[in-house]
Amino acid sequence: MPPAVIALDGPSGSGKSSTARGVATRLGLAYLDTGAMYRAMTWAVLERGVDVEDAAAVAAAAADVVIVSGTDPQAPTIEADGVDVSGPIRSQRVTDAVSQVSRVPEVRQRLVDLQRDIIAASDGIVLEGRDIGTVVAPDAPLKLYLVADTAARAARRAAEEGRSEAAHVEATAASLQRRDAIDSSRTASPLAKAADALELDTTHLTLDEVVDEVVRLAAKAV
Ligand code: C5P
Repeated sequence: MPPAVIALDGPSGSGKSSTARGVATRLGLAYLDTGAMYRAMTWAVLERGVDVEDAAAVAAAAADVVIVSGTDPQAPTIEADGVDVSGPIRSQRVTDAVSQVSRVPEVRQRLVDLQRDIIAASDGIVLEGRDIGTVVAPDAPLKLYLVADTAARAARRAAEEGRSEAAHVEATAASLQRRDAIDSSRTASPLAKAADALELDTTHLTLDEVVDEVVRLAAKAV
């Protein structure tokens, strides 16, 4: 029996999404991309014309946004206010604003409540994010903190976008570092490794190797 909840945290581009989906598929568990939820909230806030630097306005706008996440690791879905936003949440506009929106405590409280409801309704789930092991599911029997060199993270992100030219990889590295800095320094549940999380450096590992390692750890964590 795999543990009921596997928490995967780490900075942008550390390999969390691919790993979480691979592990969930292998173990027959549900999957939740909490970053997609923060991105969907950001999309909805921007649609309402709110200045994301204005925390009070973001909190007010976010209060009535309805976020719905599908948890099939093979076909995850994300909706905001009934709109399929799986494409738009990956736009540069949303990427540039998401860390500002995610800093707002009211936004975090709403999404953490939603994430806990999804955990409670599941028969076992892999969650990926920044605060899963520290805040969302501190009792998870298996917590992992994925890291990788900035250069490796930027190269992976750029390759996912089908744009491996040097200038784009460099711009991606700068964008990742900017988000990491905001995510790590915010007051409300910053990006942090839980005291009991295992750190896994994915810089020199293939996706299959990382998935194998997490599945192996999951078998021991029961
Ligand atoms: O994982 P992804 O890069 O899509 O996350 C986008 C952003 O959402 C992060 O940079 C962070 O600001 C925010 N986030 C968060 N807490 C989470 C997941 C994501 O603050 N659990």
